Amino acid sequence: MKKIAVFTSGGDSPGMNACVRAVVRTAIFKGLDVYGIYRGYEGMIENDIKRMYTYSVSNIVQRGGTILKSARSTEFRTPEGRKKAYENLKAHGIEGLVAIGGDGTFTGAKIFHEEFGIPVVGCPGTIDNDIYGTDYTIGFDTAVNTALDAIDKIRDTAAAHDRIFFIEVMGRDAGFIAVESGIGSGAEFVMVPETATDLDAVVLSLKNLRKTKTSSIIVVAEGDDEGNAEVIMNKVKEKIKDKKKEFKVTTLGHIQRGGNPTARDRVLASRCGMAAVEGLLEGKFACMAGIMNQEVVYTPFGDCIGKEKPLIQDHLKLIEYLSI
Ligand code: F6P
Repeated sequence: MKKIAVFTSGGDSPGMNACVRAVVRTAIFKGLDVYGIYRGYEGMIENDIKRMYTYSVSNIVQRGGTILKSARSTEFRTPEGRKKAYENLKAHGIEGLVAIGGDGTFTGAKIFHEEFGIPVVGCPGTIDNDIYGTDYTIGFDTAVNTALDAIDKIRDTAAAHDRIFFIEVMGRDAGFIAVESGIGSGAEFVMVPETATDLDAVVLSLKNLRKTKTSSIIVVAEGDDEGNAEVIMNKVKEKIKDKKKEFKVTTLGHIQRGGNPTARDRVLASRCGMAAVEGLLEGKFACMAGIMNQEVVYTPFGDCIGKEKPLIQDHLKLIEYLSI
């Protein structure tokens, strides 16, 4: 293998730049030519592909976002789109790919490999942490710290006004951000897509808590089965029937996707990037380089997207025990 390319795809995450840098520099260190594909699969189809050098990735290890830009491509879902993408790679002589992204990115990479045989190694880049085969995903730690910072500020004003706040964090299908930011901020409740939310139990606990606490923080993952934070707040308000109690909603939104990556995310991203290039050179072809128990682990894409990554049960217990 002499030429490889790297791209970022799907929702961006802090640390993607550190990962791109690690891929480019490791590839050059190993004597390979390396290319950057802009806007993920979209740029692969449109031939938005440029040679990268060591200086192309200078001064980015600390920056959020992704210098390669990101997109969610609908054309790549079609056989015609994937054929165009393959022809472009062939024209450049690219023989291997590093795909930085989440489950959508790996689903595309798996199909692409099956159709054209091109080796692809992935790096787990998503704030959601919902990828099997790695303890943490690149960007998760930063997103949790961003959410924590915001929740700490909200707690100040919640306490000053004796209010109940419902704070919505990202996580369409996974509650990892909600759980860790909930533990770190001392939330009274955390609502996540993985477990059924019992609103009657929440209302009862809120009534009991009122004897010891005058304000409460409830962290809601956007994909909770009872709805988003606003919907849930209205349901709880209706059930509590206390005209004097004030309820507020804050949606943290895309603030969680930006910002300088934490040290943890920079190290994780750098390790995964290096491991992805080493994997390609060792003949790995449709798998993700992740870190489990401090070791590099290569997991087939099929498992990364097909196997469930459960929440840590102790974390849920912590919230229940410590919120009394
Ligand atoms: O997959 C990462 C994620 O941030 C989810 O938590 C969120 O639901 C989604 O992306 C938002 O995507 P977009 O930026 O396309 O609205």
